[in-house]
Amino acid sequence: MLEVERLKQKFLRYLSQTSDEPIGIVVDRSEGCWIYSKEGKRYLDFISGIAVTNIGHRNPKVVQAIKRQVDRYLHTMVYGEFVQDVQIALAEKLVTLVQEACKRVSGKIEWEWQYYPTNSGTEANEGALKLARKFTGRKKFIAFKNSFHGDTFGSLSVTGREVYRHPFEPLLSEIEFLPFGDVKSLKNINESVAAVITEPIQGEAGIIVPPDDFLPSLRKRCDEVGALLILDEVQTGFGRTGEWFAFEHWGVVPDILTVGKALGGGMPLGGFLARREIMRAFAENPPLCHVTTFGGHPISCASALAALNFTEEENLPQRAKIMGVKLKEALKKIAEDYRVKGMSEIEDVRGKGLMLGIEFSKKETTKAFVKSCLEKGLIVGGTLHTEKVVRIAPPLVINEEEIDWALETIVEVLKGLSRKPNLSLSSQ
Ligand SMILES: Cc1ncc(COP(=O)(O)O)c(C=O)c1O
Repeated sequence: MLEVERLKQKFLRYLSQTSDEPIGIVVDRSEGCWIYSKEGKRYLDFISGIAVTNIGHRNPKVVQAIKRQVDRYLHTMVYGEFVQDVQIALAEKLVTLVQEACKRVSGKIEWEWQYYPTNSGTEANEGALKLARKFTGRKKFIAFKNSFHGDTFGSLSVTGREVYRHPFEPLLSEIEFLPFGDVKSLKNINESVAAVITEPIQGEAGIIVPPDDFLPSLRKRCDEVGALLILDEVQTGFGRTGEWFAFEHWGVVPDILTVGKALGGGMPLGGFLARREIMRAFAENPPLCHVTTFGGHPISCASALAALNFTEEENLPQRAKIMGVKLKEALKKIAEDYRVKGMSEIEDVRGKGLMLGIEFSKKETTKAFVKSCLEKGLIVGGTLHTEKVVRIAPPLVINEEEIDWALETIVEVLKGLSRKPNLSLSSQ
């Protein structure tokens, strides 16, 4: 225990903090859907840290691929200069997966896509925004209220929450925010717009699924005015929502697709994909106008390739769809039971696949729910832009037994909360 206390103190002393309330689990090891703490507790990971460990923690195929690559080569040269077999293998696999998804949507492979690797999701969006300006020669971007695209200056500029943008202004100019899901407002997109950037399902806004006509209407409007459509699938990609990519739910093919999080199989890797003729803009006038030292690191590529192969072999998108229905229905039932008894305050359960949100009517309940779940060994969390939604995003490899255990724990937690007078419905 002394070691644990010492680690906690050093965590606070030496690491820059992102809030005054870190979760603070002292990690010992992880495996599958579980994280084990140095205190000897085990936790079922129901957020995949966040939306990353789709294939489970330390997936054996990924661990093996990393070990093999460690024995061959690490960094040899900045991205784009040397021919690295593992980087090519990953790019071929990823491009093929994206093209196949486009084919499922449009019936044909119309374009040759290419992949530009980055270290993170925010860098993927930075690259996508720069590419859109360079390719179109236009300046303006359209983004959506309550979106989240990352914390570097460009991505933050198109993030739709004033409270996070304001302390860092001036940011990029010529950005307009429209209400997410509102088809009527899309008429504001005009010929001055380089690109529209959006998540297909807003994650940090509280798992917001748009109406079915929204993304098709957005695609249509972008085509009418010659603006590029950037879909940020950093959180939704790689099976999370029950399809390989969330754009497949609405039959909409983006011009630029950004990815991250689950791509690396637990290693840092992101990137953006676009048709070859768009990508060409980064290789000329002037050449080398968008470069990276570590983007596409061989270890990350080896890990990502193994993760993609595993996702495909195990058909994890389909698994997420089936498990997602089971979990969502069960959570709705729990919400209904407790509403009837007047004991809890669940307003909504929503989402697609294994990207779900539980909305409470009071932020105090959300906080107490998350805390109590953690105490019982279930890791759930909030979302950045709302204090009322609990994020549910387990690894896609989660099994029925684990889901049942999580559901039992949730029922227990709700029962416990309903006994706290300041949190029950009757106190409203
Ligand atoms: C939709 C979306 N885009 C971009 C990012 C930023 O990714 P990263 O934290 O890897 O920079 C996130 C992170 O949560 C995200 O959810």
